[in-house]
Amino acid sequence: MKTEVFNNLNSLFLSAAQEVFRAIRLKPNFVLGLAAGKTPVLLYKKLVEMSLAQKFSFSQVTTFNLDEYVGITKDHPESFYKFTQEHLFKFLDFKRTEGLNGAATNFKNECIRYEELVQHSGGLDLQILGIGTNGHIGFNEPGSEKSSRTRLVNLSPETQAKIPHPNFEKTPTQGLTLGISNILESKNIIIIATGATKAEAVKNSFSAIESKNYPASFLQSHPHCTLYLDQDSARLLKV
Ligand code: F6R
Repeated sequence: MKTEVFNNLNSLFLSAAQEVFRAIRLKPNFVLGLAAGKTPVLLYKKLVEMSLAQKFSFSQVTTFNLDEYVGITKDHPESFYKFTQEHLFKFLDFKRTEGLNGAATNFKNECIRYEELVQHSGGLDLQILGIGTNGHIGFNEPGSEKSSRTRLVNLSPETQAKIPHPNFEKTPTQGLTLGISNILESKNIIIIATGATKAEAVKNSFSAIESKNYPASFLQSHPHCTLYLDQDSARLLKV
């Protein structure tokens, strides 16, 4: 795992966006895994700006969202699918944009369907990740096994507390997520953490040995994973 610490957010997200572009240039029919949340917003903004400036086409690129709340449809204003639509899909000409269906009637079948779809697309070339303050990646909460696959999970109280309220009648308590082993199968991984609130999770996940108490720690063994940090999130990291 490679760690890069940046002096400002602009250079961090520029560098991450450049990594995404470089990878897609090498393989136009790229399969890109997308996280939602606050962290990747600036990355997605950079990707949109750069692609418009360079007239870069994503027309052969397929995207797979990493996770989704249970109990809502893709077009719900707070769905992760809607988030990626607002920040990326409405600006870029992707070939296909896939997401887990949080309103499926049978979640087991939905997870099987999604894994098969990833597989038939050739597997993930690059997975973009954020990290939770409890060390989660996707909705792989503390306690998740390294061997875990796409599944229905209960959201931790910490995760539930961070879910934005106004557009939800009832705060989601469950989610669907790619598992740790699905994430580790991605050929490349970019994980981004910014701000002091992530410093503890970064330290616990990347300064100590792998542990299911901090699911992000399983990324340490991935051969092509880059950790993008700002000074605040890197503050407690011992490298
Ligand atoms: C979102 C996701 C989550 C977030 C994490 C950090 O698709 O999978 O694991 O990456 O909760 O969220 P932010 O970026 O909002 O701090």
